[in-house]
Amino acid sequence: MLVHAITPNTSYEFATDVRAGLARAGQKELPSKYLYDDVGSALFEVISHLPEYGLTRADERLLQRHSRDIVDRLAGPVAVAELGSGSGKKTRQILEALCSRQLTRYYPIEISRAALLMCERELSDIDCISILGFEREYLDGLLEVAAHRSKGQHLLVLFLGSTIGNFDRPAGIQFLAEVRRILQPGDSLLLGTDLMKSNSQLLAAYDDELGVTAAFNLNLLARINRDLDADFNIAEFEHVAKINHQNRSVEMHLRSMCRQTANIRAAEISVEFLEGETIWTESSHKYSPEEVFDMARATGFRCVAQWVDEQWPFAENLLVAE
Ligand code: AVI
Repeated sequence: MLVHAITPNTSYEFATDVRAGLARAGQKELPSKYLYDDVGSALFEVISHLPEYGLTRADERLLQRHSRDIVDRLAGPVAVAELGSGSGKKTRQILEALCSRQLTRYYPIEISRAALLMCERELSDIDCISILGFEREYLDGLLEVAAHRSKGQHLLVLFLGSTIGNFDRPAGIQFLAEVRRILQPGDSLLLGTDLMKSNSQLLAAYDDELGVTAAFNLNLLARINRDLDADFNIAEFEHVAKINHQNRSVEMHLRSMCRQTANIRAAEISVEFLEGETIWTESSHKYSPEEVFDMARATGFRCVAQWVDEQWPFAENLLVAE
């Protein structure tokens, strides 16, 4: 596999975002994408096995059961692009179903080089596949994939695991509209969306008994200590999951358990925390099945099929670009 790599000045960007999020007046915030360094990605992998967190298993079950049906609905030769491929484990079903009818080009798009390499190891044994990874942000990668397409070839874009839920609703719509602008009529988007469920199920999923999600969240402070020469006292912060009923989301925060100061040398700031003050680190939005049809319509797609898991409210949605 050829990995198209970029070498962005990631620690400069990280320092800038940390400064902007922690030095602001009002609610302190950190972008959730920074949860996923090597330690955070490994912890997320463990989360996906927890009994309380059924999202990943529901996604996998639906792909396992319906990949053949999904692929049968796609016309002509199809190349597959995946936004945030992770290890690629979930994608195997779709790729195997496609490869049984055609030679398939698969373009994983990931900001993590480690994930791209893992993805290649996981999927390279499939017959009739060629893999070309892009170490890029989602839309930059998709633009390059679109430039590689051959005449008459359709694209199937995979955006699985309800990653869309980590955007707020307007940003999610804007993201879908940007994906649509890169695609051509007849191209498809397979979108995974976690659905509304009971408060107790949601809180358990984002604050599990073993404390893995707490470690995943607290690792963000540990990462700032490691990468930005900071001195957060991690033992004096606690993980909090709470439901935002108005936004239909679960929020993760890190709450300061005392009045304290953290010095972040690479970002050239000292940040004061009051006892009880929080840093908002992630939102995970939940959807109704009908809402996905509306989102598709609002962004130039048509939702032509939806499959809902029977054990964990989660939907796989096939959107076709109009
Ligand atoms: C990646 N994303 C869809 C996960 C979610 O459920 O929002 C991230 C996560 N955060 C805590 N647990 C899992």
